[in-house]
Amino acid sequence: MQKFVYYAPTEIVFGRGEEARAAELVKHYGGSRVFVVYGGGSAAKSGLLGRVEEILRAAGIAFSASGGVVPNPLVSTARRMVEEARAFRADFILAIGGGSVIDTAKAVADTVAAPGSDVWEFWTGRKVETALPIGVILTISAAGSETSNSAVLTNDTLPQHTKRGINTDLNRPKFAILNPELTMTLPKWQIGAGAADIFMHTAERYFAPILGNHLTDEIAEGLFRDVIHFGPLAVQNPKDYEAMSELMWCGSVSHVGLTGVGAKGDTAREGDWACHQLGMALSAIGDYTHGATLTAVFPAWARYVKDANPSRFVRFAEKVYGIKEGTEEVRIEAGIQATEHYFRSLGMPITLTELLGHTPEKKELEAFALECSYQKTRSIGGFKVLGYEDILNIYE
Ligand code: NZQ
Ligand code: ZN
Repeated sequence: MQKFVYYAPTEIVFGRGEEARAAELVKHYGGSRVFVVYGGGSAAKSGLLGRVEEILRAAGIAFSASGGVVPNPLVSTARRMVEEARAFRADFILAIGGGSVIDTAKAVADTVAAPGSDVWEFWTGRKVETALPIGVILTISAAGSETSNSAVLTNDTLPQHTKRGINTDLNRPKFAILNPELTMTLPKWQIGAGAADIFMHTAERYFAPILGNHLTDEIAEGLFRDVIHFGPLAVQNPKDYEAMSELMWCGSVSHVGLTGVGAKGDTAREGDWACHQLGMALSAIGDYTHGATLTAVFPAWARYVKDANPSRFVRFAEKVYGIKEGTEEVRIEAGIQATEHYFRSLGMPITLTELLGHTPEKKELEAFALECSYQKTRSIGGFKVLGYEDILNIYE
């Protein structure tokens, strides 16, 4: 086994109606003045926001609620919320929503805890030294931000938008309430994009250059099989409690680190993450749905990098899809095609042309590759390290 540190401090409270415990959990983790962050309106429309406000009020907890977080969340929104949370003298941040809302909540938690600071400082190198505690009531199974140490924002205040992430254990939520029924109002597109993102959070860790923790592989392969089985069922019928439950738990497990324990990338970070970097550049420029950007690039990425470690792709094909027949090359290709089939069954694109809705011109691809390589100043990936030309080739 490789060395590893596994740190997963988030208390998970799973099941129907568990949002009723929000006030009790906030108090348990020291919250007395709660800043509630939500998105574009789904939480208000479903009645969840009002219900949670009532629960906080009944428990005598002071709160102030603020909405307007958009998918691919913006620095400008986070800055506004930082001002509001500072004025309210918040000591706890409660996120009601998905990855975009939770990541904005994390940005607020980091920035409010450092008087005089600005959100973007933490996205450009300043270390997060302390953060307000965060709680989550999750409404979409996807990004895994409810258990992860990451937060991703798009800076819409720069002449050219850029989408970047930070990682710090201080951003791991204290608790996450997972009630699958809260996800039943999701549009099919978001369920499909979420199931794709969940698959990719394990794939990014599975395709790493340094492996050798066999339990990690078995857990990862089990997660792949579960999300491949239940993802399409959830898309077909969002009222299917079993499918929505499996998807929700897969989402949290897939990004908590468990499916990548001991699997190291080029910089001793966990996994590869090239597809996420390729996808984030697309969203920075085109505001595409995160999960859809991943399915659009994964097949091309896989075919481009497979020779770096063919046996890994052979194992993937066999353990995930039961593919055992044919030469190594045939099995590798069959595994990639089976993944394309899975993405299609979620209603997701599997090429850039499908994602964009048109065949991109070279100039457009170059713009994506420049953003992805931070203007040719970095490489991405760990399974195979990719520079600007590789990135451009994969987009092409
Ligand atoms: O804004 P509202 O009205 O709530 O609508 C949202 C939004 O339009 C809607 N929605 C959420 N729950 C709903 C609902 N609609 C009806 N019923 C419900 N129960 O769904 C839309 C998408 O929401 P969003 O929060 O953007 O989805 P997701 O959880 O997929 O988050 C995506 C963001 O997370 C980042 C992505 O890059 C992207 O910006 N990621 C964050 C990560 C992390 N922090 O660890 C890791 C991921 O790899 C990812 O990069
Ligand atoms: Zn993701």
